[in-house]
Formats: sequence, structure tokens, C-alpha cells
Amino acid sequence: GAAELGPYRHYMQKEIFEQPRAIGDTLEGIQAVVPELFDGPSDKPGSSAHRVFQEIDSVLILACGTSYYSGCTAKYWLESIAKLPTQVEIASEYRYRDSVPDPKTLVVTITQSGETADTLAALRHAQSLGMTNTLTICNVATSAMVRECKLAYITRAGVEIGVASTKAFTTQLAGLFLLTLALAQAKGRLSGDEEQRHLKAMRHLPAQLSAVLALEPQIISWAEDFALKENALFLGRGLHYPIALEGALKLKEITYIHAEAYAAGELKHGPLALVTSEMPVVTVAPNDTLIEKLKSNMQEVRARGGVLYVLADADSRIESEVGIHVIRMPEHYGPLSPLLHVVPLQLLAYHTACARGTDVDKPRNLAKSVTVE
Ligand code: G6P
Repeated sequence: GAAELGPYRHYMQKEIFEQPRAIGDTLEGIQAVVPELFDGPSDKPGSSAHRVFQEIDSVLILACGTSYYSGCTAKYWLESIAKLPTQVEIASEYRYRDSVPDPKTLVVTITQSGETADTLAALRHAQSLGMTNTLTICNVATSAMVRECKLAYITRAGVEIGVASTKAFTTQLAGLFLLTLALAQAKGRLSGDEEQRHLKAMRHLPAQLSAVLALEPQIISWAEDFALKENALFLGRGLHYPIALEGALKLKEITYIHAEAYAAGELKHGPLALVTSEMPVVTVAPNDTLIEKLKSNMQEVRARGGVLYVLADADSRIESEVGIHVIRMPEHYGPLSPLLHVVPLQLLAYHTACARGTDVDKPRNLAKSVTVE
């Protein structure tokens, strides 16, 4: 009811603003990264992340929708920090194709609800192929997924009501980052110093997220432009390519604007043909090692008259000019940067939807939890 919404107009907005709290809760009580964090609810005896993490030598992530994009982000972490070969697959594809099972693979399902039919079926398919090392990153401790996986990490998002997932996504990312650290440690690929440095960065996330949420007025002015468009393109590279995908998904889901995301390097292999002055191009531009590459992609867009909306870090040299709108984020946040860069994209979709007068919390044709195929 209205009372629970407090100062917010919709559950989605409330849930976006709950993210500093949700991420703070995730870190509560964690002094060190230990495998026991992934043992799951204490009423599930006999499962031991410690033993499983020693056994496995690769990772297969299975999920749908927004949860799939958190998996895509985690692949970059798992391969760069834990050095574990990682595949990410859409659950509805994996369940029906012939694949080569490997009993030494850790199967990770990611699901807010724990009840998504395709994700559960994909898990059961993997199990039927002999892959018994299963772990879920899930927001509902009592769900079918938690019951059926050997190991579990329960995210601390709290109940999510908006159909378009927001706080569940960032808490999944936090859980997946912890999983990356735990696996890196199990494989002897993480020093105590590195572990503490990563944990410290995680502990500062709530303050960083609050700083990003304070950019809301600037996002509202972008949303006024977007509300008048019928198409939008999102670009990102590396860790932020899945964030561009998630930004485009959010916009599609609740504003009904056609949005596509591309890895920026793919621009010249197709989407550049779509770019005109009517095509807003959102560029997720953290100040990482790929920034110079991304800047030349931005020039390619400008040269065709495309209008850029750039999420730049405080320490990057990208300035607003004609056809380039820049919102300045906090300083570059290293591997955890995706958790910050997704937030303005959530707010952009939200405020564009408000400007278009759509049903933000219950978009047409979509369900919060897809429990039938
Ligand atoms: C639906 C929801 C999405 C969600 C997806 C997967 O499509 O609208 O927000 O990302 O299902 O749901 P899950 O509960 O498995 O994360």
C-alpha cells in the first residue's frame, strides 16, 4: 500500500533507493571471505562449499533475464580474479541443447525468485548429466532452487515487488563478487592483502551508491529527452558490456522504447547503420583500461550525428559538448564499478517510464516470476 512506499512514487523507485542498504546488509558480519558463506541455509546439512570449491576447476552459470546479465558480469571477474574458465548460458537454451558435461564444473544458477521454470529445468538438466556441484545465488531462502542446489548464497535484497529487477541485480553482483573471491582463495590465487583490499572496497559501496543516487536530478533531465524517442542504443566494453545490456533491458521493459545494447567494438559491424540524430546512444564509460577505445567509438557515433549520453567517471577526461551529454560518476571503482554504473541506467529507465506514463511496477505482458515455460 501507499504507506510502505514512503516518499517514493513506485516500488521500483523505492527499490532503486534501497540499494545502499541492501549492499550494506550483504557485507554485514563478513570479516573474511570463507567458503561457509556459500553453504546455504543452516537447515541444509551435509553440504560443504569448502570441499566443492577444492574439487571444481570451471564454472557454468545458468539464468534468465536480469539474472543472466549479473552472470555475464561475473564471468569477467571469475576469469580475471579466480582464473577459472567460466561459461554463462541462458537457461532456456542450455536445457534443450546437447552439451558436454564436466563433473568438475561448478554449476551456478542465479535467480531472484528461485522459482523460474527455465532456470530450475536447466539445473535439473545439468544434474541429470552428472554435474552435482551446484550452487545458487538466490533471493528467496525457501525457494525450490535453494532446496535443489547443494550450495546456496542468499542475497539480502529483501522482497522485490517491481517487475523490473533492480536491487536483486546489485545484490546478486555483490554475492557473485564474494563467490569470485572465495573461489580465488580456494585455488590459492588471492593473497590476504588482496582479500582485505577487495572487502574494503565492498564496504565503501553503500556510500558510493548513495553518491550515484544523488545524480537523480541529472538523470531526470536525460529522461525528458528519452521519453520522446522510439529507439535507443547502449554501448559498453568489458565488465560494462553486460551493464549496457541490462540498461537496454530496463528501458525496454518499462518504457516500451526499443533499446539494444552492443559491445562498443561491434558498432561498426552493424548498429552504426542505425545511428542518426534521432538515436540517443548511452555510453557506459568507466575510466578503465578500455576508455581510449571507447572514446574512439564515441567519435564514430558523433560523426554520424548520433547524440551521446555518457556515464563518465570523475577522473576521466570526457567533457560535455554539442551532442555529448556527460553525467559524472564518482571516481573509477575498479572491478566493482558495474554496481555503480548500473544505477543511473535503472533511474533513466524509471524516469523515462514516468514521463511516458507507463505502469512502472507492472509493465504490460511481463510477470515478476515466470514459473511456467
Ligand atoms: C522475469 C522478471 C525479471 C527477472 C527474470 C528472471 O522476466 O521480470 O525481472 O530478471 O524473470 O527471474 P529470476 O527470479 O529467475 O531472477
